[in-house]
Amino acid sequence: MIMRPTVAPRVQTLLLLAGVALLATSCGWSLWDSPMTTVRPRSDFGKVIDELFMLISWTTLVIFIAVEALLIYVCWRFRERPGAPVPKQVHGHTQLEIGWTVAFAVVLLVIGIPTVRVIFKTQEAPAATALRVEVGGKQWWWEFKYPSLGIATATELHLPVGETVAFHLHAPDVIHSFWIPQLGGKRDVVPHRVNRIVMTPDTPGEYPGQCAEFCGTSHANMRFRVIVHEKSEWEKWVKAQQAPAAEPTDPLAQQGKQIFSSTACVGCHTIKGVSAGLIGPDLTHFASRKTFAGGIMAVTPENVAKWVEEPEHMKPGSRMPNLGMNREQGKALAAYLLSLK
Ligand code: CUA
Repeated sequence: MIMRPTVAPRVQTLLLLAGVALLATSCGWSLWDSPMTTVRPRSDFGKVIDELFMLISWTTLVIFIAVEALLIYVCWRFRERPGAPVPKQVHGHTQLEIGWTVAFAVVLLVIGIPTVRVIFKTQEAPAATALRVEVGGKQWWWEFKYPSLGIATATELHLPVGETVAFHLHAPDVIHSFWIPQLGGKRDVVPHRVNRIVMTPDTPGEYPGQCAEFCGTSHANMRFRVIVHEKSEWEKWVKAQQAPAAEPTDPLAQQGKQIFSSTACVGCHTIKGVSAGLIGPDLTHFASRKTFAGGIMAVTPENVAKWVEEPEHMKPGSRMPNLGMNREQGKALAAYLLSLK
């Protein structure tokens, strides 16, 4: 039986291609604008990497177009024609060989020199005046300590705009990777070694961060938020964080404080003036944060109570043990923690 070519498959293919193109553009635009974009850098570190990325992308695009154009031309020019002789086979063409050796060397230089320069630039040692932040990548949350300011926080990193910050990256358990797509990274956070990133954020705003190296059960739940402040807002934040922990006035919160200080909570968490545990996040100003538990939940009384009752259920593999708190205890603890502005 002879199959007759129909127009339908061709139309289908065209429709499919058009669909993919449409999807790709919408996808492209939303990525361009998304909070996790790397092509809208908001720091000097992000900018040098973005410039390099653009240089390589444009260079390779030009090479791609030139090679494809040549290929299409050759396919068309030397296509098989009835009666045409088989072309003479050529082995070795000195000029051509010199040509493509030199051309590739030039391409390598165009890409290689700026790449090496950016590698060195992004490995620079911090100036003594840089704001030092000790970053702890833990299973599965991020700790941020400001030794010069006496502040410790978790899951939320606050920075002043226009000021150079030096992150010192520590990993007490396994390898993580510190990444704030719009500001910079990724850089591995490795046990028994302190890696650094130095950058200057240039635009106030909120930027999401994420662990970018598989580090165990809740790797995907190891997020954080970066808030870049104007100078005056930054000073306000520092002052608030340096203040001692608030004393609860509400009876339920007072009961919560009682529970906190008389159970295993104190072994893991610091609340200045109440406890000095170092394993879990510092909770002195817990309620000043918007999210907790590796940034996966909003700080609300319901979420905090649920978390206290069954942490493992909320964040798989959570290192916070189930202390067998009942609903009433959970509510009281949540009231206390939410009073810690
Ligand atoms: Cu930490 Cu992935």
